[in-house]
Amino acid sequence: MSTLIDEIARRRTFAIISHPDAGKTTLTEKLLLFGGAIHIAGAVKSNKIKKTATSDWMEIEKQRGISVATSVMGFNYGDYKINILDTPGHQDFAEDTYRTLTAVDSVIIVVDVAKGVEQQTRKLMEVCRMRNTPVIIFVNKLDREGRDAFDILDELEAELKISVRPLSWPIGIGAKFKGVYNIYENTLDLFTPDKQKVSERVEIDNVDDPAVDEAVGEKEAAQLREDLELIDGVYPEFDREAYLKGQVAPVFFGSALNTFGVKELLDCFVEIAPSPKPIEAVERRIDPAEEAFSGFVFKIHANMDPNHRSCIAFVKICSGKFERNAPYKHIRSGKVLRFAAPTAFMAQKKSIVDEAWPGDIVGIPDTGTFKIGDTLTAGEELHFKGLPSFSPEMFKYIENTDPMKSKQLEKGIQQLMDEGVAQLFTNQFNGRKIIGTVGQLQFEVIQYRLLHEYGAQCRWEPISLYKACWIESDDEDALAAFKRRKHQFMATDREGRDVFLADSNYVLQMAQNDFPKIRFHFSSEF
Ligand code: G4P
Repeated sequence: MSTLIDEIARRRTFAIISHPDAGKTTLTEKLLLFGGAIHIAGAVKSNKIKKTATSDWMEIEKQRGISVATSVMGFNYGDYKINILDTPGHQDFAEDTYRTLTAVDSVIIVVDVAKGVEQQTRKLMEVCRMRNTPVIIFVNKLDREGRDAFDILDELEAELKISVRPLSWPIGIGAKFKGVYNIYENTLDLFTPDKQKVSERVEIDNVDDPAVDEAVGEKEAAQLREDLELIDGVYPEFDREAYLKGQVAPVFFGSALNTFGVKELLDCFVEIAPSPKPIEAVERRIDPAEEAFSGFVFKIHANMDPNHRSCIAFVKICSGKFERNAPYKHIRSGKVLRFAAPTAFMAQKKSIVDEAWPGDIVGIPDTGTFKIGDTLTAGEELHFKGLPSFSPEMFKYIENTDPMKSKQLEKGIQQLMDEGVAQLFTNQFNGRKIIGTVGQLQFEVIQYRLLHEYGAQCRWEPISLYKACWIESDDEDALAAFKRRKHQFMATDREGRDVFLADSNYVLQMAQNDFPKIRFHFSSEF
């Protein structure tokens, strides 16, 4: 039992999120370098699909290959076991990222000092806020010209709607970037632009030490003291409890490319970030320290080889010890399964594991048993909550173009939806199938995969929709009246829930005004 508690306490499972190009891949790589999981910079391939490559299938296939290898990066750092969950770089795969965020205990957000908060960061932060996920912010690229640090802090607060507290502070920026004062540890690190070398530390007692003037220059030292005074005046002391509740985000400054400010970030992260927390199931709250194993599938990765339609299901362990070959119940089917070849991801290598602990992710080879959101337990009937679907942003009718292959098409659509590639809605009025996605790229991925993996052909037909909203009401008559009035725009999602397809913002607002007894939800979790 004590092992279980110790193993939980040393685990830090998190994701790094950012707008594309802010430096997520570079920061991930530097963290792996510190963890000894890789030995040279450049070892982690960028998992980005370049923005121009929307129709480049090779690029998509390559991406799928790379992202299996980097889906989970586990390594030991001091006494800690760190699991970094990768999130796709391309924003058309945002839905994958949302789901990955349900499997982490905290998040590091990377922001480009010149660009500030960008659209994708704002969206991902909304998901973190929904779940009160603790976030640490790393302001990157201080070696380049960028914005004033106080301006960035204001923008972070306003745009991400979270209080911030700097725990390090930059001295100069761009060509005049001298280094970072680490408020958390009261240390000073000087910047030497060098991609491989770790920064030089100056021994100081506190910020008033004359060694600071010597190291960075008198003018800069005076500015630093003034800034720190202002910080202490404006921002309350760092409060770990508030951070753990997702109310305040500590902020670090640095340059991932130059491995500068990264170790400070990591050292503080392991100390303050949460170990696996209790998780809500429909039936009750599950504590990670409970002896009985439980976990859920948050991601399914299709095999690269279309001849073997096998996948890897990624299971986040929520409680107890997971053991290879132990009998576990797959709640949705009621079947008892044994997993002979679960894999874990350590130091970039995938290998079969005999056991794993709460916070860890195991990959389970699968041939269609699992769906996103499935629960596995040692026997108890539990259903983990909270793998939300969000209203898609793009919609198209999917039509079969090869009548001989309608079964294959049906199966292909089912399985791709189980994997969470996109969302399927069936129009209640005419039975037509509508696929909803976050970006254009998914339509191309679906069409390509249906053909190559299932031998089915489809074509897309336009449908002009603004949003899909899940609707409910305590008043059955009101619900029935709404569905009658909007019968052409009512659809059913895969779980059979009612979804209203609004074709414009105006129509949605009118519907909300006209039917006050109906509740409209923009995510499936309510
Ligand atoms: P992403 O995963 O968030 O999309 O970003 P990624 O790490 O790929 O970084 C995007 C670009 O920003 C890369 O340049 C990377 O080298 C650069 N970069 C990351 N951190 C820093 C930093 O601290 N300072 C500076 N000056 N640049 C930084 P690229 O030219 O797009 O790619 P590459 O050819 O250098 O790999």
